[in-house]
Amino acid sequence: MPRGTFITFEGLDGSGKTTQMRRLAAWLTASGRTVVSLRQPGSTALGDRLRAVLVDSRSESALGPISPLAEMALMFADRAQAIAEIISPALAAGSIVLCDRYTDSSEAYQGAGRQLGSARILAMHAAVCNNLQPDLTLLLLPPLDAALARARRRNHRYAAAQPQSETQTEPQPADENRFERESDDFYARIHAAYLEIAAREPHRVLTIANDDSGDNSIDAIELRIRALVAPRLL
Ligand code: ADP
Ligand code: TYD
Repeated sequence: MPRGTFITFEGLDGSGKTTQMRRLAAWLTASGRTVVSLRQPGSTALGDRLRAVLVDSRSESALGPISPLAEMALMFADRAQAIAEIISPALAAGSIVLCDRYTDSSEAYQGAGRQLGSARILAMHAAVCNNLQPDLTLLLLPPLDAALARARRRNHRYAAAQPQSETQTEPQPADENRFERESDDFYARIHAAYLEIAAREPHRVLTIANDDSGDNSIDAIELRIRALVAPRLL
């Protein structure tokens, strides 16, 4: 059976994954490829429900604190559903699958950020994802302080847009910043974990460093990504 190509995007919140994934999808589609895009958590009906629980900062006022192990298990429940419903069928049909976050996020955020350890995440990946690995992972890694500043700006914009009244009864949009409220230490552990994953699997994980040494505009990074992806496509 022909197998497509599985490409994941990884990095800290605000590192530009969504922007670059959209651009890569448009470029590949324009060159005649069939592209299937998804994000984790989310993209299936079950996954969208799980995303609301996992990413909205108001979940914990409704549900109480989510334990780190429950958080990990829910991330993998989302992933198992996405593999069954979207990723495996698309790969079997020969498509290029672009996924905004995958198991490396669990290793970085739950394994390192929540300090559950990599071994537990990798065992879960083997059990729940049948060890399905991306052919290529693009790791967008700006310096830690730059990524944090971007994520925090987004967070503040959201907070400033919230109504101040306690009696407000209108439904509120999802705020999606449960993780972005975490401490700088949490993000430093994630940053270090991503560097370790890239060092461990240099053939799969290509780092787009985005430091001060070159042109880091959205356009320039897009071109760097195209140059990395093109040789990997059949
Ligand atoms: P992520 O999906 O990793 O959270 P986004 O693609 O949503 O990141 O980007 C977060 C913000 O940073 C957006 O406002 C986006 O326009 C901006 N951004 C993305 N890439 C760059 C870049 N290379 N230089 C400056 N700003 C960027
Ligand atoms: P996402 O919307 O991709 O975040 P952003 O666009 O801000 O980069 O992902 C939502 C959050 O979920 C993000 O803070 C990282 C977190 N996450 C985990 O903690 N573990 C996981 O396995 C995944 C897939 C995401």
